[in-house]
Amino acid sequence: MLSIIVAVAENNVIGKDNSLIWKLPRDMRHFKETTTGHYIIMGRKTFESNGRPLPNRTNVIITRDQDYKADGCVVVHSLEDAIKEAKDDLEAFIIGGGVIYDLAMPIVDRIYLTKIHNSFEGDTFFPEINMEEWNVVEERKFEPDEKNKYPFTILTLDRKK
Ligand SMILES: NC(=O)c1ccc[n+]([C@@H]2O[C@H](COP(=O)([O-])OP(=O)(O)OC[C@H]3O[C@@H](n4cnc5c(N)ncnc54)[C@H](OP(=O)(O)O)[C@@H]3O)[C@@H](O)[C@H]2O)c1
Repeated sequence: MLSIIVAVAENNVIGKDNSLIWKLPRDMRHFKETTTGHYIIMGRKTFESNGRPLPNRTNVIITRDQDYKADGCVVVHSLEDAIKEAKDDLEAFIIGGGVIYDLAMPIVDRIYLTKIHNSFEGDTFFPEINMEEWNVVEERKFEPDEKNKYPFTILTLDRKK
């Protein structure tokens, strides 16, 4: 199974200046719990934005640069090769960013979608989701608290068969 995991603002913004805009530790915990032990597939810019391989996961980086090296990571040159690398994982995760989500959207089976109930200025966007193609199989709402400034909802969407 191939899944996207993403956090999206009301206006579809996912990032600005190659970094995340909001800080929501509760959502970061969901990201960590969901992806730990699995393959995570990302664009070169998202990898550099993270600044290091994420621990306890196989980090697969997609770049056109044939000489690109990153310690502790698998480097590939297409989404297809990234998926081949992850073929033995029961569930592999596309973790961004905008360009790689665009490429993966037509072929993923599931989307873990954190909807942040706020709009932000940004330069990177998540593609429009056509809800006619997806079933909402889980929905969890989170209210703001002292550590998490914005309300958000974590949805699990499975592609309709
Ligand atoms: N909110 C969220 O959940 C979330 C999650 C992840 C990232 N983000 C944000 O998204 C932003 C980064 O996204 P982005 O769209 O700018 O970049 P990106 O998707 O992370 O990476 C783009 C890079 O991937 C490589 N690439 C893309 N298509 C390729 C192809 N067909 N074949 C080979 N390589 C390919 C290229 O690397 P080279 O240039 O090296 O060739 C390209 O520059 C940041 O702001 C980050 O914080 C948000």
